[in-house]
Amino acid sequence: MAIARTADRAEPAATLRARSFSAIVAGAVAGLVLGFPFAAQAQQPIVIKFSHVTTPDTPKGKGTEKFKQLAEQYTSGKVKVEIYPNSQLYKDKEEIEALQLGAVQLLAPSTSKFAPIGIKEFEALDLPFIFPDEAAYLKATKGVIGKALLQKLDSKGITGLAFWDNGFHMISANKPLRKPRDLQGLKIRISGSKVADAYLRAMGALPQIIAFSELYQALQTGVVDGCENTPSNYYTQKLHEVQKHINVMNHAHLSYAVIANKKFWDGLPADIRVKLEQAMQEATDYTNSIASKENADALAAIKASGKSEVYAPTKEEREEWRQALVATYKSVESRVGKDIIVALQKETAAVSQ
Ligand code: LMR
Repeated sequence: MAIARTADRAEPAATLRARSFSAIVAGAVAGLVLGFPFAAQAQQPIVIKFSHVTTPDTPKGKGTEKFKQLAEQYTSGKVKVEIYPNSQLYKDKEEIEALQLGAVQLLAPSTSKFAPIGIKEFEALDLPFIFPDEAAYLKATKGVIGKALLQKLDSKGITGLAFWDNGFHMISANKPLRKPRDLQGLKIRISGSKVADAYLRAMGALPQIIAFSELYQALQTGVVDGCENTPSNYYTQKLHEVQKHINVMNHAHLSYAVIANKKFWDGLPADIRVKLEQAMQEATDYTNSIASKENADALAAIKASGKSEVYAPTKEEREEWRQALVATYKSVESRVGKDIIVALQKETAAVSQ
């Protein structure tokens, strides 16, 4: 697969910052005026704005395109899906506010970004080494744990539709990270999860939340020393060009929850909603089926670029990291809930046997 690098840096951080709360409210008002009620504009297609923060050539970007194609096909054009990738409309935290206000109808944020709306249980999916492999991740998110998590969003005016996969995290800095102690004193960017905050802090690092769209610049200018992410995100955001050493640790998993504005979703004509659910189901299977290969291709491209030294830890080194990081589960038990940690451990142990 040829991976096109389309990280669009034409949208400067200042522009993104300028998308203030009032812009979200303005969008929401337009959404309410234009989007409801459906009956009043029977001839017009129902427009779904699907906003996200990665480039189009990532598992998530391709998943949104697949959903658009299927949704428009299955509804015979009665629904039009507009995709806004690359934080074009909103950054990480703003996009969830925008969804709740109705300025956009669909999002696929990483599950590490739900704490600001008070749903901390999603962060259990960020626990390091909780998923031994993709099969374990898919089983947990497709089963009762996944369903229970998505249902929690209802009370926040959000309908949880699906989980999309984007593989396992690597970790990087401008120095080799062979052992947990190598993280001592390094400022490491995290996307929002207190679980990541806890395990990095326990290793002596200084975690900092930075929006995805600002990560490249933060690494380039030394605001932070390192980060963790999946190969596809490193490659499409060119993070490997500003990180000298990458350790393919595969410690934590990156998953997305595809979510809709509940009022919008519930207000759809029933026949349309059924077709959109079908489109979402198929787009989910598609996205989950390409994630591993997309990440493997991105990793190969990073290696071929020669811009960063890519290191695969030995079995012993990985075990040392695993033990150090798993020891931090206790510190987040009261936050994410012991029940969900135990349930995940049971579910994933069953898969990995
Ligand atoms: C991140 O902020 O690192 C990720 O959540 C970005 C993404 O959506 O893959």
